[in-house]
Amino acid sequence: MGKIKSLVIGDLRAEVPLIQGGMGVGVSLSSLAGAVAAQGGIGVISTAQIGYREPDFDTDPIGANLRAIKTEIQKARQIAKNGVLGVNIMVATRKYEEYVKAAVEAGIDLIISGAGLPMDLPKLVGTAKTKLAPIVSGVKSVQVIMRYWWKKYSRLPDAVIIEGPLAGGHLGFHREQLDDIDGLHYDDEVQAIIEKVNEAAAEHETDIPVIMAGGVYTREDMEHYLEMGASGVQMATRFVTTYECDADDAYKQSYIDAKKEDIVIVQSPVGMPGRALLNPFMKRAKEGQIAHGKCHLCVSTCKPAETPYCITEALVNAVKGNTDDGLLFCGANAYRATKLEHVKDIMDEFRP
Ligand SMILES: Cc1cc2nc3c(=O)[nH]c(=O)nc-3n(C[C@H](O)[C@H](O)[C@H](O)COP(=O)(O)O)c2cc1C
Repeated sequence: MGKIKSLVIGDLRAEVPLIQGGMGVGVSLSSLAGAVAAQGGIGVISTAQIGYREPDFDTDPIGANLRAIKTEIQKARQIAKNGVLGVNIMVATRKYEEYVKAAVEAGIDLIISGAGLPMDLPKLVGTAKTKLAPIVSGVKSVQVIMRYWWKKYSRLPDAVIIEGPLAGGHLGFHREQLDDIDGLHYDDEVQAIIEKVNEAAAEHETDIPVIMAGGVYTREDMEHYLEMGASGVQMATRFVTTYECDADDAYKQSYIDAKKEDIVIVQSPVGMPGRALLNPFMKRAKEGQIAHGKCHLCVSTCKPAETPYCITEALVNAVKGNTDDGLLFCGANAYRATKLEHVKDIMDEFRP
């Protein structure tokens, strides 16, 4: 059992090698991220429409989001004074650069960025000590990022997060791949990514921890990836059914009530497949367009005039507890929750 060690990312050290994955909209804010960081893991705030509770969200969503990035980071810091905190900023976010800068100004320790390749992230953070961790699903993407960052910015990722096909939210796979996950033999890809990252790290005489995400639920799952050479895991779905999770109780209850067959792959309006609960909202969305209000300027890949529904409205409804009218993203393991848990109890399960 001596295999679990603390996770070191540059000058950051998390006693428990567990990152709580960022969950938008509003599912991982200061309460959940602060609780995880206070328990020795890395707590991550999702910046996706983070300002949804601000009074001016409808008229100035980006302004509301930039303000909320700062207040949520400050609140999480109060919960976890010496903990390690990150933000998850999707590359596809409109005004991505401004979100990155707001998080850096608020003193965030780590930026995790996927849903696209964060090619110019090093330029945006400049000389700040914020650590950078791209999310990749394949060996090609990690090579492209590492080569480009080195050539253009003389910098390598401080950590790499692999997100596999069992994850929740948007997925970096084609629909056909998700229809036959066993056929992907994804552990081979994980191994290949770890090897490529280790090669680059050795070449530049540094360490780049690799963190596995997607389908990790137990300590045994974590040990499996540590044995393969990962330095830690990222886990999201398991943290939804915690007292500390920022979503409404009805959201958490939907996970607890879910059966395996209720978890499906959906085509999201932002142009990527995703994993979610097949609830009344998703059933209606499959049948046709759902009317929506004006655009909330979330991601650059959505075409408001053509979208089958507004993903911001659907995710905000969900997090507020209006689950029948909401999109509930979840990982393949969501059906395993049977009760609410305290973050501390989960973290104790993963402690070295
Ligand atoms: C409800 C929910 C929302 C998510 N939102 C985001 C997001 O906004 N950005 C992102 O990069 N990943 C998002 N994810 C992915 C997680 O950060 C994480 O990498 C993944 O779900 C890990 O797999 P697991 O849920 O099986 O633990 C989301 C996942 C869930 C379950």
